[in-house]
Amino acid sequence: MPTSEKVKSKLLVSIPPKIHGTIIDLGSGWGNMAIRLAKQFPQCHVIGYETSPVPYYFSKIWLFFDKIPNLQFRKKNFFSVNLKDSSLIYTYLYPGAMKILYNKFEEELIPGTIVVSNTFAVPQWDPVQVLEVKDIYNTRIYMYVKSSSNIEALQAKSEEDVNGK
Ligand SMILES: C[S@@+](CC[C@H](N)C(=O)[O-])C[C@H]1O[C@@H](n2cnc3c(N)ncnc32)[C@H](O)[C@@H]1O
Repeated sequence: MPTSEKVKSKLLVSIPPKIHGTIIDLGSGWGNMAIRLAKQFPQCHVIGYETSPVPYYFSKIWLFFDKIPNLQFRKKNFFSVNLKDSSLIYTYLYPGAMKILYNKFEEELIPGTIVVSNTFAVPQWDPVQVLEVKDIYNTRIYMYVKSSSNIEALQAKSEEDVNGK
């Protein structure tokens, strides 16, 4: 199911307007969210990853007619993509995917990366903001900023181990 218009409007105004770098839509579907992100943030490179052929080819055909130079769709399983170079990740997936993504985010995202998840929270992460949309599902949008706290905790632990504490 694509992100609804109400959800799109609410979350797009919550993203820092001066964001730069690469924005990734993990599972870009028919492409409409990635298209909005690319148009709203022309200074960013937007990439949508999608495995399902019909929505993927639809989004490619859309892009053929609606030229958006900073947008690319790639037919690829996003679990096999390294996310280290992203500034912002957008997801609208399912709980099982969020569990796997938690580990991937911990390993690959650099501190400061913004993660915006429609409906499904990232397990074990504390959102910096939760937006509530007044629609029939009372949709929640979870906004996170990858912190360095876990990395620092791991470093502190390995120093303790080295020092034999
Ligand atoms: C709920 S739709 C969201 C589409 C779009 N992001 C939006 O917000 O409108 C989720 C999409 O993720 C795709 N997807 C799920 N797992 C994927 C994976 N591992 N790699 C690439 N795409 C995936 C599905 O095929 C589906 O099109």
